[in-house]
Amino acid sequence: MKKFSIKNVDFKDLKDLKEIHKVQKGIFGADAIKWDWWFDLIEDNLLFLKIVPSKLNEIIGAIVVTHLKKDDPLYPGDYIPVFFIKENYQRKGYGTFFFKESLKRLRKLMVQFLYLHTKDYNQPALNFYKKFGFKIIEFFEKYYGSGDNSYLLEMKI
Ligand SMILES: CC(C)(COP(=O)(O)OP(=O)(O)OC[C@H]1O[C@@H](n2cnc3c(N)ncnc32)[C@H](O)[C@@H]1OP(=O)(O)O)[C@@H](O)C(=O)NCCC(=O)NCCS
Repeated sequence: MKKFSIKNVDFKDLKDLKEIHKVQKGIFGADAIKWDWWFDLIEDNLLFLKIVPSKLNEIIGAIVVTHLKKDDPLYPGDYIPVFFIKENYQRKGYGTFFFKESLKRLRKLMVQFLYLHTKDYNQPALNFYKKFGFKIIEFFEKYYGSGDNSYLLEMKI
């Protein structure tokens, strides 16, 4: 894992923002976060990190953690709207390495609970989050624009 490093993303760095947005669009398709909403989410982020190979100019994964207000329709609390590892780097342990480091930083920020939505059939993500102690706390029918269902997951960190 030495050949990779985890770096802060500056939410004013348009080049990084565009690249991360493009990759999440490729992964989540119709249910990806739209560009105008993307800015609202990242502007108030608690944590915005990327994982990059030390020798290549490429972002292989990103995480955004944001604090949603009490009346937010997504879910109130500290929420992960974006977390991914690029397809050709998946299942090699990078997600685990990246998420562990993100948790360390969130603990320093005194975050206690984390929430996220994932599709009910996204088995890789469900397995992944389960390993970190996330529990399914709610089911939302047709939650996504595509009509897919979601689970809301919670973790005490
Ligand atoms: C979910 C995701 C972040 C996992 O990252 P990753 O780097 O591939 O994960 P790791 O290699 O660290 O794997 C850790 C564990 O996750 C689970 N997992 C990962 N990929 C899996 C797959 N394709 N099938 C089943 N379980 C899988 C396994 O439990 C795995 O442990 P194991 O290898 O000991 O069986 C990655 O698959 C991804 O970005 N997917 C697309 C985007 C996404 O779904 N994001 C989360 C939705 S909010």
